[in-house]
Amino acid sequence: MESGQASRGQFVIVIMMGPPGAGKGTQAQRVAERLGLAHLATGDLFREAMARHTELGRQAESYVKRGEYVPDQITLGLVRERLSQPDAQAGAILDGFPRTLEQARGLDRLLAEKGATVDKVVYLDVPEAELARRLGGRWTCRRCQAVYHEVFNPPKTPSVCDVCGGELYQRPDDTPAVVQRRLEVYHQQTAPLVQRYDAAGLLVRVRGDLSPDEVTEAVLRAIGDW
Ligand code: AP5
Repeated sequence: MESGQASRGQFVIVIMMGPPGAGKGTQAQRVAERLGLAHLATGDLFREAMARHTELGRQAESYVKRGEYVPDQITLGLVRERLSQPDAQAGAILDGFPRTLEQARGLDRLLAEKGATVDKVVYLDVPEAELARRLGGRWTCRRCQAVYHEVFNPPKTPSVCDVCGGELYQRPDDTPAVVQRRLEVYHQQTAPLVQRYDAAGLLVRVRGDLSPDEVTEAVLRAIGDW
C-alpha cells in the first residue's frame, strides 16, 4: 500500500498486536488517521458501553474489571457491527482484537463474507518491565479515548485532552493487581496468535520502546511494505 490513503475499492485490515501497554491504542489511532481507515478498539467499545450502562456494557463489565477476556461470541458480534459502519468502508486498524484463536477464526470468516483477508499484523515489541511503568502513568480521555502518559506523553494542560478538551481519567483496570492478571491472560490466550500470524507470513515486528513518533513511522513503513 502507498503510505497515504487506503486505495479505492480495497478493504484493508491491519491488526495491531502486543501486550497490555505496548502502545496499540496510541499507534492505532495515529495510523488509522494517516491511512484514512477506521480505528476499531474493542477495549474502547467495551468501556464506552460500560459508561453508558448498555446491555453490552453490563455483560462486559465483570470481565474487564478483573482483567479477563470478554467471551468470544460477544466480542465477535461487536466487531461485526463496528465493521459495517460507514467510516469502516475502506477497512480498519484493529486494536486489541483478535485476542484468542476463536476470535481470529471468527475474523477470517467475517472477512471472507466481504471477499477480504487480513493484510498485515504489526506486533509492538516492548520489554515487560516497561509495560507496568506505562500503564501506571496512563491517562485517557473520557470523551474521545485519546491516550496520554504523565511522563512520556503528557497533555499540554494536566487532566485536559489536547484533542477535544475532554476530561482525562485513570482506568480502573490499570491497578498493579489487575495489570498483572491482564499480562497473565495475554500470555496464555493471545501469545499463541503471534505464532499463527507469523506462520502465515503476515506478522511484522516493530520496536515499540522508541518514542511514539518513531514507532508511528516504523509502523507505517511496516504496513506500506506488503
Ligand atoms: P484494552 O483496552 O484493549 O487493553 P490492553 O490490551 O490491555 O491494552 P492497553 O489499552 O492497556 O494498552 P495499549 O497497548 O493500547 O497501550 P496504550 O497505547 O494505551 O482492553 C481492556 C479490556 O477489555 C481487556 O482486559 C478485556 O477485558 C477487554 N477486551 C478488549 N478487547 C477484547 C477482546 N478482543 N476480547 C475479549 N476481551 C477484550 O499505551 C499505554 C501507555 O504508554 C500510555 O500512557 C501511552 O501514553 C504510553 N505510551 C505509548 N507509546 C509509548 C512510547 N512509544 N513511549 C512511551 N510511552 C508510550
